[in-house]
Amino acid sequence: MKKILVLNGSPRPKGNTKAMITAFAKGAESQGHQVDIVDVCKLTIHGCIACEHCHTKGNGVCVQKDDMQKISTLFGDADMLVVAAPIYFSGIPGQLKCVVDRFYAAFNPQAPNSSRKAKKFAAILSSGLPNVYDGAKAVLNSLAACLGLEVVSVLTANGEENGSEAKMAELQNFGKSL
Ligand SMILES: Cc1cc2nc3c(=O)[nH]c(=O)nc-3n(C[C@H](O)[C@H](O)[C@H](O)COP(=O)(O)O)c2cc1C
Repeated sequence: MKKILVLNGSPRPKGNTKAMITAFAKGAESQGHQVDIVDVCKLTIHGCIACEHCHTKGNGVCVQKDDMQKISTLFGDADMLVVAAPIYFSGIPGQLKCVVDRFYAAFNPQAPNSSRKAKKFAAILSSGLPNVYDGAKAVLNSLAACLGLEVVSVLTANGEENGSEAKMAELQNFGKSL
Protein backbone atom coordinates (compact mmCIF):
# COMPACT_ATOMS: atom_id res chain seq x y z
CA MET A 1 0.00 0.00 0.00
CA LYS A 2 1.37 3.38 -1.02
CA LYS A 3 0.42 6.73 0.47
CA ILE A 4 -0.27 9.27 -2.26
CA LEU A 5 -0.58 12.96 -1.45
CA VAL A 6 -2.58 14.95 -4.01
CA LEU A 7 -2.42 18.75 -3.88
CA ASN A 8 -5.48 20.17 -5.65
CA GLY A 9 -4.72 23.69 -6.85
CA SER A 10 -8.19 24.39 -8.23
CA PRO A 11 -10.53 26.62 -6.22
CA ARG A 12 -13.56 24.99 -7.88
CA PRO A 13 -14.81 22.16 -5.62
CA LYS A 14 -16.56 20.38 -8.51
CA GLY A 15 -14.33 21.59 -11.32
CA ASN A 16 -12.43 19.84 -14.09
CA THR A 17 -9.29 19.34 -12.02
CA LYS A 18 -11.28 17.72 -9.21
CA ALA A 19 -12.93 15.33 -11.70
CA MET A 20 -9.48 14.22 -12.90
CA ILE A 21 -8.30 13.77 -9.30
CA THR A 22 -11.40 11.75 -8.41
CA ALA A 23 -10.84 9.38 -11.35
CA PHE A 24 -7.15 9.03 -10.48
CA ALA A 25 -7.97 8.35 -6.80
CA LYS A 26 -10.58 5.73 -7.76
CA GLY A 27 -7.94 3.82 -9.74
CA ALA A 28 -5.27 4.12 -7.04
CA GLU A 29 -7.65 3.14 -4.23
CA SER A 30 -8.78 0.09 -6.21
CA GLN A 31 -5.18 -1.16 -5.81
CA GLY A 32 -5.26 -0.59 -2.05
CA HIS A 33 -3.35 2.70 -2.04
CA GLN A 34 -4.25 5.53 0.34
CA VAL A 35 -4.97 8.83 -1.41
CA ASP A 36 -5.01 12.06 0.63
CA ILE A 37 -6.44 14.99 -1.31
CA VAL A 38 -5.64 18.47 -0.01
CA ASP A 39 -7.68 21.35 -1.43
CA VAL A 40 -4.97 23.98 -1.33
CA CYS A 41 -7.38 26.87 -1.97
CA LYS A 42 -9.29 26.12 1.24
CA LEU A 43 -6.11 26.58 3.29
CA THR A 44 -4.28 29.68 4.39
CA ILE A 45 -0.79 29.46 2.96
CA HIS A 46 1.26 32.59 2.52
CA GLY A 47 3.98 33.12 -0.05
CA CYS A 48 7.64 32.53 0.77
CA ILE A 49 9.22 35.68 2.18
CA ALA A 50 12.78 34.61 1.28
CA CYS A 51 14.06 35.22 4.81
CA GLU A 52 16.26 32.09 4.56
CA HIS A 53 15.36 31.12 8.14
CA CYS A 54 14.56 27.57 6.92
CA HIS A 55 18.02 27.27 5.33
CA THR A 56 19.90 28.70 8.30
CA LYS A 57 19.03 28.56 11.98
CA GLY A 58 15.55 27.19 11.26
CA ASN A 59 17.07 23.88 10.09
CA GLY A 60 14.36 23.26 7.52
CA VAL A 61 11.50 24.76 9.51
CA CYS A 62 9.69 27.74 7.99
CA VAL A 63 9.36 30.82 10.14
CA GLN A 64 5.76 31.33 9.00
CA LYS A 65 3.12 29.44 10.94
CA ASP A 66 0.15 28.66 8.74
CA ASP A 67 -1.48 25.69 7.00
CA MET A 68 1.71 24.76 5.11
CA GLN A 69 2.62 22.69 8.15
CA LYS A 70 -0.32 20.35 7.37
CA ILE A 71 1.05 19.77 3.87
CA SER A 72 4.62 19.29 5.11
CA THR A 73 3.47 16.67 7.60
CA LEU A 74 1.47 14.74 4.98
CA PHE A 75 4.35 15.01 2.49
CA GLY A 76 6.81 13.63 5.03
CA ASP A 77 4.73 10.45 5.23
CA ALA A 78 3.83 10.10 1.53
CA ASP A 79 5.35 7.74 -1.06
CA MET A 80 4.24 9.88 -3.96
CA LEU A 81 3.32 13.52 -4.57
CA VAL A 82 0.72 14.46 -7.19
CA VAL A 83 0.11 18.12 -8.00
CA ALA A 84 -3.13 18.90 -9.83
CA ALA A 85 -4.04 22.30 -11.22
CA PRO A 86 -6.00 24.25 -13.76
CA ILE A 87 -3.90 26.40 -16.08
CA TYR A 88 -4.19 30.10 -15.22
CA PHE A 89 -2.49 32.51 -17.63
CA SER A 90 -0.16 29.76 -18.86
CA GLY A 91 0.90 28.85 -15.33
CA ILE A 92 -0.51 27.49 -12.09
CA PRO A 93 -2.97 29.34 -9.79
CA GLY A 94 -1.41 31.72 -7.28
CA GLN A 95 -2.62 29.79 -4.25
CA LEU A 96 -0.74 26.71 -5.46
CA LYS A 97 2.36 28.70 -6.40
CA CYS A 98 2.58 29.83 -2.77
CA VAL A 99 2.68 26.16 -1.75
CA VAL A 100 5.34 25.33 -4.35
CA ASP A 101 7.51 28.23 -3.16
CA ARG A 102 7.09 27.18 0.48
CA PHE A 103 8.56 23.76 -0.37
CA TYR A 104 11.85 25.72 -0.42
CA ALA A 105 12.15 24.76 3.24
CA ALA A 106 11.90 21.05 2.39
CA PHE A 107 15.07 20.85 0.35
CA ASN A 108 17.29 21.75 3.24
CA PRO A 109 19.18 18.61 4.33
CA GLN A 110 18.16 19.48 7.90
CA ALA A 111 14.44 19.65 7.03
CA PRO A 112 12.23 17.70 9.45
CA ASN A 113 10.90 15.59 6.58
CA SER A 114 14.27 15.10 4.88
CA SER A 115 13.95 11.39 5.73
CA ARG A 116 10.79 11.41 3.60
CA LYS A 117 9.82 8.33 1.66
CA ALA A 118 8.52 10.02 -1.47
CA LYS A 119 10.25 9.01 -4.68
CA LYS A 120 7.67 9.69 -7.37
CA PHE A 121 5.84 12.70 -8.73
CA ALA A 122 3.00 13.23 -11.19
CA ALA A 123 1.11 16.25 -12.45
CA ILE A 124 -2.53 16.54 -13.47
CA LEU A 125 -3.36 19.65 -15.51
CA SER A 126 -6.62 21.00 -16.89
CA SER A 127 -7.02 23.85 -19.35
CA GLY A 128 -9.35 25.47 -21.83
CA LEU A 129 -6.90 25.39 -24.73
CA PRO A 130 -4.44 22.74 -25.94
CA ASN A 131 -0.64 23.09 -25.73
CA VAL A 132 -0.61 25.56 -22.84
CA TYR A 133 1.29 23.46 -20.33
CA ASP A 134 4.93 24.59 -20.70
CA GLY A 135 4.76 27.18 -17.89
CA ALA A 136 3.14 24.80 -15.39
CA LYS A 137 5.47 21.97 -16.38
CA ALA A 138 8.54 24.16 -15.86
CA VAL A 139 7.43 25.03 -12.31
CA LEU A 140 6.38 21.50 -11.39
CA ASN A 141 9.44 19.83 -12.93
CA SER A 142 11.56 22.24 -10.93
CA LEU A 143 9.69 21.34 -7.74
CA ALA A 144 10.09 17.61 -8.41
CA ALA A 145 13.81 18.03 -9.13
CA CYS A 146 14.39 20.03 -5.94
CA LEU A 147 12.60 17.38 -3.89
CA GLY A 148 14.48 14.55 -5.63
CA LEU A 149 11.32 13.05 -7.10
CA GLU A 150 11.04 11.22 -10.41
CA VAL A 151 8.32 12.63 -12.68
CA VAL A 152 6.41 9.52 -13.74
CA SER A 153 3.54 11.15 -15.61
CA VAL A 154 1.97 14.46 -16.64
CA LEU A 155 -1.70 14.00 -17.51
CA THR A 156 -3.56 16.81 -19.23
CA ALA A 157 -7.10 17.60 -20.36
CA ASN A 158 -8.12 20.58 -22.46
CA GLY A 159 -11.45 21.86 -23.72
CA GLU A 160 -13.93 19.07 -24.35
CA GLU A 161 -11.53 16.44 -23.06
CA ASN A 162 -12.40 17.76 -19.59
CA GLY A 163 -14.85 15.37 -17.94
CA SER A 164 -14.87 13.05 -20.97
CA GLU A 165 -15.23 9.33 -20.46
CA ALA A 166 -11.95 8.67 -22.29
CA LYS A 167 -10.02 11.14 -20.12
CA MET A 168 -11.52 9.83 -16.88
CA ALA A 169 -10.54 6.28 -17.94
CA GLU A 170 -6.97 7.48 -18.64
CA LEU A 171 -6.73 9.01 -15.16
CA GLN A 172 -8.24 5.93 -13.51
CA ASN A 173 -5.87 3.62 -15.39
CA PHE A 174 -2.88 5.69 -14.30
CA GLY A 175 -4.02 5.40 -10.68
CA LYS A 176 -4.42 1.65 -11.12
CA SER A 177 -0.93 1.33 -12.58
CA LEU A 178 0.81 2.55 -9.43
C1 LIG B 1 -8.01 33.07 -14.04
C2 LIG B 1 -8.09 32.03 -15.13
C3 LIG B 1 -7.07 31.97 -16.06
C4 LIG B 1 -7.10 30.99 -17.07
N1 LIG B 1 -6.05 30.95 -17.96
C5 LIG B 1 -6.06 29.98 -18.92
C6 LIG B 1 -4.97 29.90 -19.85
O1 LIG B 1 -4.01 30.67 -19.81
N2 LIG B 1 -5.00 28.92 -20.80
C7 LIG B 1 -6.05 28.03 -20.89
O2 LIG B 1 -6.04 27.18 -21.76
N3 LIG B 1 -7.09 28.08 -19.98
C8 LIG B 1 -7.11 29.04 -19.02
N4 LIG B 1 -8.15 29.09 -18.11
C9 LIG B 1 -9.21 28.06 -18.16
C10 LIG B 1 -8.99 26.93 -17.15
O3 LIG B 1 -7.67 26.46 -17.15
C11 LIG B 1 -9.92 25.75 -17.48
O4 LIG B 1 -11.27 26.18 -17.53
C12 LIG B 1 -9.79 24.62 -16.48
O5 LIG B 1 -10.45 23.49 -16.99
C13 LIG B 1 -10.39 24.99 -15.12
O6 LIG B 1 -10.22 23.92 -14.22
P1 LIG B 1 -11.12 23.84 -12.89
O7 LIG B 1 -12.53 23.52 -13.34
O8 LIG B 1 -10.53 22.75 -12.09
O9 LIG B 1 -11.04 25.16 -12.21
C14 LIG B 1 -8.17 30.06 -17.13
C15 LIG B 1 -9.21 30.15 -16.17
C16 LIG B 1 -9.16 31.12 -15.20
C17 LIG B 1 -10.29 31.20 -14.17
